Amino acid sequence: MAVIIKTPEEIEKMRVAGRLAGEVLDFIAPHVKAGMTTGALDRLCHDYMVDVQGCVPAPLDYAPSGYKPFPKAICTSVNHQVCHGVPGDRALKGGDIVNLDITTIKDGYHGDTSRMFAVGEVSIQAKRLCEITFECLWLGIAQVKPGAFLGDIGGAIQRHAEKAGYSVVREFCGHGIGAKFHEDPQVVHYGKPGTGIRLETGMIFTIEPMINAGKAAVRELADGWTIVTKDHSLSAQWEHTILVTETGFEVLTLCAGSRPKPEWVR
Ligand code: MF3
Ligand code: CO
Ligand code: CO
Repeated sequence: MAVIIKTPEEIEKMRVAGRLAGEVLDFIAPHVKAGMTTGALDRLCHDYMVDVQGCVPAPLDYAPSGYKPFPKAICTSVNHQVCHGVPGDRALKGGDIVNLDITTIKDGYHGDTSRMFAVGEVSIQAKRLCEITFECLWLGIAQVKPGAFLGDIGGAIQRHAEKAGYSVVREFCGHGIGAKFHEDPQVVHYGKPGTGIRLETGMIFTIEPMINAGKAAVRELADGWTIVTKDHSLSAQWEHTILVTETGFEVLTLCAGSRPKPEWVR
């Protein structure tokens, strides 16, 4: 399948959807505290998206072939959960790290972004994993410009993660995004620079590295959605939606509360 090049009108809608997705994370950040359940975070985000932003939460009832419909409005992945964690009655406790992944649909277009949150005081190891993964995201983003190779993104991410002693999850990847949640291309977070398709102005895709403190292997829980590390090691993920521009990139999911790019990344 071919990669869709977005029109200026579509790009404008993607800017709106992207910013709104980021703003859900800004909204929920003060609620990510010990004692809060992931289900309560889901409910708050759901109501904010629907009632305040006038958005549709894309995960709710999302059912790619082979999957049963996702039952909640956001994904909450705690500690050794890698991605697609289903919100429920699990209460967060001090020392947990949790990824909140938000996908909005506004005016028919999707914005997709996730961040890591630390609950209370977390271990030095957990903090380092979240930091290195954030750096991986931005090292990947920094590769984006017309004429660059898709493999430049994965190559930069894999190199940084493995230098830190971590491993890159293979089974899940970034993705084209637009009127559909998941479009071509698949943006894997490992690989060789100089390989794969060439990026073109007007492409929009996510970069969303999942980095494990231990081995790369993952498995799916019996709920049919939640992905965990096989060795129970901690896992972290950060995600932005990226537009390829004539001069490089534009991060569509930035908003007031976004963490800025590490200043040494260029
Ligand atoms: N937001 C995830 C991504 O970044 C996809 C979640 S699919 C869901 O691609 F159904 F679990 F929500
Ligand atoms: Co995504
Ligand atoms: Co996402």
